[in-house]
Amino acid sequence: MQNHPRSFSIGGNLTVNRIGYGAMRLTGQPGNFGAYPDWQGGVALLQRAADLGVTFFDSAWAYGPETADRIVGEALEGRDVVIATKGGVDKPAPGRIVVDGSRETLLRQIDRARTNLRRDRIDLFQLHRVDPETPIETSVAALAEAVNAGWVRHIGLSNVSREHLDRALAVAPIASVQNRFNMAETADADLVDYTAEKGIAFIPYGPLGANPMQQGAALPARDALAWLLRRSPNIVVIPGTTSPAHLEENVGAWDLIRPDLG
Ligand SMILES: NC(=O)c1ccc[n+]([C@@H]2O[C@H](COP(=O)([O-])OP(=O)(O)OC[C@H]3O[C@@H](n4cnc5c(N)ncnc54)[C@H](OP(=O)(O)O)[C@@H]3O)[C@@H](O)[C@H]2O)c1
Repeated sequence: MQNHPRSFSIGGNLTVNRIGYGAMRLTGQPGNFGAYPDWQGGVALLQRAADLGVTFFDSAWAYGPETADRIVGEALEGRDVVIATKGGVDKPAPGRIVVDGSRETLLRQIDRARTNLRRDRIDLFQLHRVDPETPIETSVAALAEAVNAGWVRHIGLSNVSREHLDRALAVAPIASVQNRFNMAETADADLVDYTAEKGIAFIPYGPLGANPMQQGAALPARDALAWLLRRSPNIVVIPGTTSPAHLEENVGAWDLIRPDLG
């Protein structure tokens, strides 16, 4: 009988429970723009997640922008949890997306994210998307600079192909890949297996099949999460929710898996 470990060690030294939390939904609308209107409710939700055993939280510069990092930083200050954020994409207005993976922009965003997250060193900083104007080698070299400066612990990538990953690995160690993947959208199945072989975390976004611009899961939540957790031991899920009841339901996805344990 196959074993499904509850934790994964990101970068070989950050052990997290494989049911995490994605903070993109803790922003305003439309299009996840602006600060989450129920700020104290959002703080309480994040703290409740940590109390329920969530140890991995995913945010990004672009969510808000900056407001998701701020609410995560406020809620989780002093907690022993792993916080990931991203840079290289900005959303300065509803529906407007600016991709900029230049060294200067990444280092500026990392420095500000340290303030917003209230941490001297960011556990995992992910390149949100590859900038068509900037070779991925240049972006990853900037993230490696931040690692050497002690601002970032591990480098991750998001929205990448296997070729991007191989090019990035030639520049610096890569701890995670975050791409859209769920039981109904499996185009990156080979990349899941490739990252597993390399000991790299795969962080599937949209684990419940939600449309990024609309509220609501498209898949039955616990089944969708259990499918991912069974799919590969390097998968760390980050379902996003604004609802304490949904949070509890999502964290409870292990209940569907426990009978599998030998
Ligand atoms: N790297 C990237 O480019 C990228 C892109 C998109 C997302 N992400 C990351 O991935 C995370 C997750 O993605 P996502 O938020 O787009 O999609 P998701 O996790 O698949 O779905 C979130 C949606 O499902 C609903 N939901 C959550 N739990 C539920 C439950 N138990 N029952 C019914 N509905 C439920 C939420 O609404 P309620 O609030 O009502 O629960 C929310 O609208 C984001 O928070 C973000 O951190 C990354």
